[in-house]
Amino acid sequence: MVLPQLFLVAGCYLISPVTAALQVPLSFENTAVVRTIELGGSEVHVTTSYTTRSLGKENNVYYFVVPKKEDDKTSWVDVKIKGQSSPLLVEKHGIDALLHKSQPVIYYSVDLPKWLNINESVTLLVNTIESHASIPLPATAKQNDPQSLLYETGAYVQSPYTTVNQRTKIRSPSPTIHSYSDPPSLSRFAVNAPVTKSGASVTYGPFKDIPPSDDGGFSDEIQETVKVHYQYEKPLVTVALLRRAAEISHWGSNLNIQDNIHLRNDGPRLDGHFSRLQFQQQAYQRAVGNHVLGSFTIRLPPDVRDPYYTDIVGNVSTSRFRPAPPKVKSRASERFSSLDVRPRYPLLGGWNYSFTLGWDTPLENSAVYDKSQNKYTIRSVVDDAEVKVILPEGARADIQIYTPFAMDSIARDTHITFLDTKGRPSITLSKRNLTEKHTSPIYVTYTVSLSAHFSKVVAVSSAAFLLFSLMFVVRRVDTTIRSNTQK
Ligand SMILES: *[C@@H]1O[C@H](CO)[C@@H](O)[C@H](O)[C@H]1NC(C)=O
Ligand SMILES: *[C@@H]1O[C@H](CO)[C@@H](O)[C@H](O)[C@H]1NC(C)=O
Ligand SMILES: *[C@@H]1O[C@H](CO)[C@@H](O)[C@H](O)[C@H]1NC(C)=O
Ligand SMILES: *[C@@H]1O[C@H](CO)[C@@H](O)[C@H](O)[C@H]1NC(C)=O
Repeated sequence: MVLPQLFLVAGCYLISPVTAALQVPLSFENTAVVRTIELGGSEVHVTTSYTTRSLGKENNVYYFVVPKKEDDKTSWVDVKIKGQSSPLLVEKHGIDALLHKSQPVIYYSVDLPKWLNINESVTLLVNTIESHASIPLPATAKQNDPQSLLYETGAYVQSPYTTVNQRTKIRSPSPTIHSYSDPPSLSRFAVNAPVTKSGASVTYGPFKDIPPSDDGGFSDEIQETVKVHYQYEKPLVTVALLRRAAEISHWGSNLNIQDNIHLRNDGPRLDGHFSRLQFQQQAYQRAVGNHVLGSFTIRLPPDVRDPYYTDIVGNVSTSRFRPAPPKVKSRASERFSSLDVRPRYPLLGGWNYSFTLGWDTPLENSAVYDKSQNKYTIRSVVDDAEVKVILPEGARADIQIYTPFAMDSIARDTHITFLDTKGRPSITLSKRNLTEKHTSPIYVTYTVSLSAHFSKVVAVSSAAFLLFSLMFVVRRVDTTIRSNTQK
């Protein structure tokens, strides 16, 4: 098996603290900057396209900046050349505290794949994902109220270079936009009306001839914070904590996964007391507030065996397992098993729910996890994940791990169960602030000695796991009340 070069792919950037003032050479002019912000629930996706012209010869490093306030919420950054799929190497620099007193910006540099000559242009696409950037407004809601969120950002895309033309389009997932800011100062650089709303989107700009705007003066005096208040019709589910143990066994070629999942609803807090009776009546009339999480489905790999689901009280009888449909009928990428989970109580804003989920799957299929685009799929952000991979007894010390993005920590240990004599090597990977982009496989390679059973003493195995992927499908409302809800 050829292992992909995973260390340099998307989302992985080097971080170098700024020790002295960062000197960004004014070697580019942005001819057009277009930022598109796709509002969502716990994730907001931002794509900024920089079409830029080289002002010098042999130019191959481009800088962009992200206001620190936004950078603190950013859990993913990748940069590509428009039309190309391979991500470029990105380096994050610290802040220059002297230059930026109140509203600092963070610098990122991008290595361009080739030298640019005078007047040569390139279009870079910078993709970022912000976690928990939209907050519920109002912050409290009655059980059947609709849910609305507030997002704020700077009206201008800041840059160390002059920008000839730029605009920002903010798209809401629902057509209901309650309000958006229209500060009068925006007419300074505006060509026509500085703000326009059309359907579910609000556009700031076009703005013309903006000077270099990475300094504190621009941040403090010219930049405007703009807000968009929009309706959001799905629950704001966050996985506050994911503790996953993946145990590999070559006996029976099995992969056992056990997850401890701590869910949190980040929607508006409940105003008043929860009424189950009212909830059931509303569910019957399909009038439950869309911030309430009544039930959800977790997608599992297609060949799952013996799934179980428990919470602190014990087995949850209202869960239902649906195996994947037979192979012939659907494309491989659309095959998955599902576990419908109905927590003991519906999850309201600010409420938590912890449960344990486990299953077995054939080892050789561990990489087959689906990517299908269900309309209702919520790829919840995971705030804190810890994944422990337990290798078979006898796996040797030449264990290697290939991760598609930088981990916060990787620890090696020995996992001892009472049946083991020597214990099994284990690796614990930790990562905070995961987004839907963090679903690429992790490769673990190791050598196992199977001397007792095979004449060939050493077999090399490798497995690819989508270890950090957890997919929820949330139905908008609890539409059915099963007769056996409470057992
Ligand atoms: C680069 O473009 C500018 C503006 O279009 C033009 O004035 C200048 O002569 C060009 N320089 C070169 C070296 O082609
Ligand atoms: C939970 O259910 C499974 C299978 O339905 C059963 O084997 C197990 O003993 C049950 N556990 C508890 C604690 O009730
Ligand atoms: C939910 O869990 C968090 C810790 O993860 C805790 O601070 C909070 O009080 C819990 N909320 C409720 C309503 O139990
Ligand atoms: C994760 O995000 C939170 C804000 O959402 C931030 O405070 C924290 O520093 C981030 N942690 C890491 C390790 O990036």
